[in-house]
Amino acid sequence: MNIVVSNLKGGVGKTTTAVYLAAAAAARGHDPVVLVDADRQASAAEWLEERPIDGVEIVEAPSERTLARAMKSHDGVGIVDTPPGDERLVVSTFGVADAVVIPTRAGGVEFSRVAYTLDMIPSKTARGVVIVSARFGTNDLEETIAWWRAEKVPIWGVIPERVAIAAGPEARLYREGLDEYDKVLRAAMRGGR
Ligand SMILES: Nc1ncnc2c1ncn2[C@@H]1O[C@H](COP(=O)(O)OP(=O)(O)O)[C@@H](O)[C@H]1O
Ligand SMILES: [Mg+2]
Repeated sequence: MNIVVSNLKGGVGKTTTAVYLAAAAAARGHDPVVLVDADRQASAAEWLEERPIDGVEIVEAPSERTLARAMKSHDGVGIVDTPPGDERLVVSTFGVADAVVIPTRAGGVEFSRVAYTLDMIPSKTARGVVIVSARFGTNDLEETIAWWRAEKVPIWGVIPERVAIAAGPEARLYREGLDEYDKVLRAAMRGGR
């Protein structure tokens, strides 16, 4: 199966989400776990080069053709990190994805951005949002959660804002982040609400 991590607008936590989801899948014993990096910036590839994750294989696939092949050519779990901006490339993955995970931050302007991404996803494809860099106890977060509920978009996870997560490849994967992303992974695999 393939899980695509996407938000068509802006840099919001896609790469972080993709890396943690891949690590969570490997920790669950899925084999192979392929982290497909469709971003020419190759931040996911660089992350794994600097800090490999046991059981996670990285494949760079920055074009529609390489990406389609990378998603088809494994029989395990593929986690696809997507670039910002390249709408055609990203939308090409939605039809073949089993689930689309949309990272978003708390706060007003994010809603229209995510709505735009949601519109591009075929209705049969499972999708859910993950609220990243969340500050618990803030109105912003509560309003954001209430908004997605009202919109009937499943919230697959709420990831707290943590320095250890922001450190990226400079630090080892953060336990609390792995636990939260494991829940996201399970929801995505269930196609869950
Ligand atoms: N849970 C989190 N806590 C703190 N910082 C985070 C968290 N998730 C992501 N970030 C930070 O947000 C920034 C954008 O994340 P990144 O994954 O690179 O987004 P994108 O791939 O969408 O550009 C990075 O600096 C990253 O470290
Ligand atoms: Mg990125």
